[in-house]
Amino acid sequence: MDIRENIASIQSALEEELRTIEDIRQLDEVRQRVLGKKGTLTALLRSMGQLSPQERPAAGQLINAGREAISALLDEKQSMLNARDRELKLRRETIDVTEPRPLPRVGVPHPMSLVLEEVLSALTGLGFDVVEGPEVELDHYNFELLNLPKDHPARDAQDTFYVDDNIVLRTHTSPVQARTMLSRKPPIRIACPGRVYRADEMDATHSPVFHQIEGLVIDKDVTMGDLKGTLDTLFKKLYGNDIETRFRPSFFPFTEPSAEVDLTCITCRGKGCRVCKGTGWIEVLGCGMVNPKVLEMCGIDSKEYSGFAFGIGLERITMLRYGIKDLRLLYEGDERFLRQFR
Ligand code: PHE
Repeated sequence: MDIRENIASIQSALEEELRTIEDIRQLDEVRQRVLGKKGTLTALLRSMGQLSPQERPAAGQLINAGREAISALLDEKQSMLNARDRELKLRRETIDVTEPRPLPRVGVPHPMSLVLEEVLSALTGLGFDVVEGPEVELDHYNFELLNLPKDHPARDAQDTFYVDDNIVLRTHTSPVQARTMLSRKPPIRIACPGRVYRADEMDATHSPVFHQIEGLVIDKDVTMGDLKGTLDTLFKKLYGNDIETRFRPSFFPFTEPSAEVDLTCITCRGKGCRVCKGTGWIEVLGCGMVNPKVLEMCGIDSKEYSGFAFGIGLERITMLRYGIKDLRLLYEGDERFLRQFR
């Protein structure tokens, strides 16, 4: 077979094969098989040694031209494959910034936070400042200054967690009354929300840790009527204008007179239902006129000033507000429960 035919057949076999080649590695193999040390075209070049000196230049030219044509074919295929790979890679690595993603999970406010927010905004609207006090409290503020001396029988009713003889976990938010009277001059109008502790069992209506919102007003000529007016305004704002308060006589050492306050049942609006046990009323707080003894112990002249105080159970009014039947739901952090209160 003459050289020209030989080259032509190598070239056409190559063209045929290139059509089926899919990647760079296959292409390199083919390149080796034709142009490599043991390649078909290289073999042809070697065979020139057998030609006569006269035949060699023409043969050399043919083979070189053939090699160039073949190289060009291989290079062309190679750049085609490279371009295709780059294209694929770009497409694979594209980030679609418009693609919708699942939304991040956002928390929701706790129902007690919602109710607290409502109560505090109603009270600040009435001119109250919001203050806080320590949960680990001196016996002195939790009891003594509130007219509960060490031997007072009413202390037993409080189921106190003692840290030591003089330090307790506060059993109510009332110690903040004493702290405020000692640190501010009348007129005083404060609301104090916070955690309180009592050595209670945990059930549907009791918990050893719960929350109160304390209110205290001290000024000249403050009366029980002001107390009633303040609570009426607060609860009408929270629950609606048809809601009324009812005072029943009660006893707290730090208020005199003292009262328990009932609210028109929010569930039945006073008609009588299971929540209010048919009475149309529900108990929500304790209150009274600040005992003059307490005023004096806290450095306020009881002849010049008078005041009232109240302590609202936050769990209780939250449960009433949303019709929650079991207190424990408020502490368990179950999302299925919490996500209902937006
Ligand atoms: N501190 C009382 C309690 O925890 C509630 C209360 C507050 C009563 C203020 C009167 C005045 O039960």
